[in-house]
Amino acid sequence: MQDRPILVIGATGKTGRRVASRLEARGIAVRRGSRNSTIPFDWEAPETWAPALTGVRAAYVTYFPDLAFPGAVEKLEALCETARDVGLEHLVLLSGRGEYHARLGEDVVRASGVDFTIVRSAWFAQNFSEGYLRDPILAGVLPMPGGDILEPIIDIEDVADVVVAALTGDGHKDEVYEVTGPRLMTFAEMAATLSQAMGREIQHLPISFEEFHANIAQAGGDFVADVFTAIARETLDGRNAHTTDGVMRALGHPPRDFADFALRAVQSGAWTSAA
Ligand SMILES: NC(=O)c1ccc[n+]([C@@H]2O[C@H](COP(=O)([O-])OP(=O)(O)OC[C@H]3O[C@@H](n4cnc5c(N)ncnc54)[C@H](OP(=O)(O)O)[C@@H]3O)[C@@H](O)[C@H]2O)c1
Repeated sequence: MQDRPILVIGATGKTGRRVASRLEARGIAVRRGSRNSTIPFDWEAPETWAPALTGVRAAYVTYFPDLAFPGAVEKLEALCETARDVGLEHLVLLSGRGEYHARLGEDVVRASGVDFTIVRSAWFAQNFSEGYLRDPILAGVLPMPGGDILEPIIDIEDVADVVVAALTGDGHKDEVYEVTGPRLMTFAEMAATLSQAMGREIQHLPISFEEFHANIAQAGGDFVADVFTAIARETLDGRNAHTTDGVMRALGHPPRDFADFALRAVQSGAWTSAA
């Protein structure tokens, strides 16, 4: 049974790439779910779901771009039905802390009849090095709304470790791991930590939610900006301003610190390569 592969949906993305590599390093067969893989997976093409899920033992499910987008929870529900029908044994869902629609997605997974683990994550440190804030950081600024809000930012190496533990180990069935970094930080403190690691100033720009919307709309259009601004308003209101023990519970050790992420990202050339 163990030789059946594990499907990683979003295998070219920030967390999926890390999960797939970790599994392969352990000698576990991986079916990389991407719109461009041999057996493709596309959230917009339901006919790809059953072929992608058939013959796999377990799946890591990331929704793109976010469960708050219209129709996302319904698609996740349909995917879970397909997963149950083809006999998937275990589904690990990536969810977001403090997000109403992510909770709806969690409920769908819980009700699916498939064994599950939910990894409900804090804000990713890699948003600065691999996500939409990489370009501003390259330009020396960190523009974020929410003022002095505190966020227990997480290094997604920890998210990937928790996902892999859930996919491969015992004792993670029906668990919800709410995962955060080890300490609360303001975005100004994150900018200062990045500055120190990079050896040049990254200036925190406290912006309004309207400016946040305008920044996203420039690249992604008004609709995408509407959804991401709603998420930012929802999650940067103080509800997430506490740390949790999810990484410790899942892995038996504390999460990595943001300062270590910053140093590692500098060493790996995260802000020097063109990619
Ligand atoms: N960023 C944060 O701080 C944060 C915090 C908590 C939770 N989350 C959640 O994390 C999830 C995203 O995970 P991630 O950051 O690991 O992924 P990601 O880096 O955003 O990328 C995921 C992958 O999605 C794929 N993709 C794009 N359109 C697709 C489609 N129509 N069908 C299938 N795949 C598609 C792309 O791969 P291909 O182009 O190869 O198909 C992409 O590489 C979201 O649901 C978000 O809510 C994010």
